[in-house]
Amino acid sequence: MRRLISVGVVTFAAAAAIAGYAFAQEDLIAKRQALMKDNGAQATIAGQMLRGDTPFDAAAAKAAMEKIAADAAEIPADFAPGSEGGDALPAIWENFADFEAKATALKTAAEAAAAATEGGLEAFGPAFGAVGQACGACHQTYRKAS
Ligand code: HEC
Repeated sequence: MRRLISVGVVTFAAAAAIAGYAFAQEDLIAKRQALMKDNGAQATIAGQMLRGDTPFDAAAAKAAMEKIAADAAEIPADFAPGSEGGDALPAIWENFADFEAKATALKTAAEAAAAATEGGLEAFGPAFGAVGQACGACHQTYRKAS
């Protein structure tokens, strides 16, 4: 009897741990997808200025690049081991150091683009181009093509 109870307790604890794990995993996927959507929103702000759809506003462009840099710093944590799923390819967890390096490359490019806003649209254009390349370099290898 005593043995049965303890087995039951262990089974329950294991089930709760698995449920908690699955929940945390879903959470992380939703969190990083929201973060990536924000990356997209910030890039759109800059892209509209470069196309001339909206006037160049150095402060707004700088804020958008700083937001991308902050988002980039968060990327590795949002892809913690065990959070496989969404449009994230398994290759991420096979080459995590490279994945992390691509997140750092985005952060560096976004910081440079934030600084370049002080040089006007001519300086900002190519610097933002490098940001777009950093997004693409990671997506190409680590994101499911949709
Ligand atoms: C280090 C890798 C990496 C970098 C850098 C990166 N992304 Fe992503 N991105 C991903 C991965 C992986 C996914 C798929 C995530 C998932 O579905 O779990 C994704 C998904 C997205 C999505 C779809 C989100 C959704 O709705 O599900 C958008 C939009 C996006 N990224 C935009 C960007 C932009 C814009 C940049 C650059 C400013 C960027 N990303 C930089 C790896 C990256």
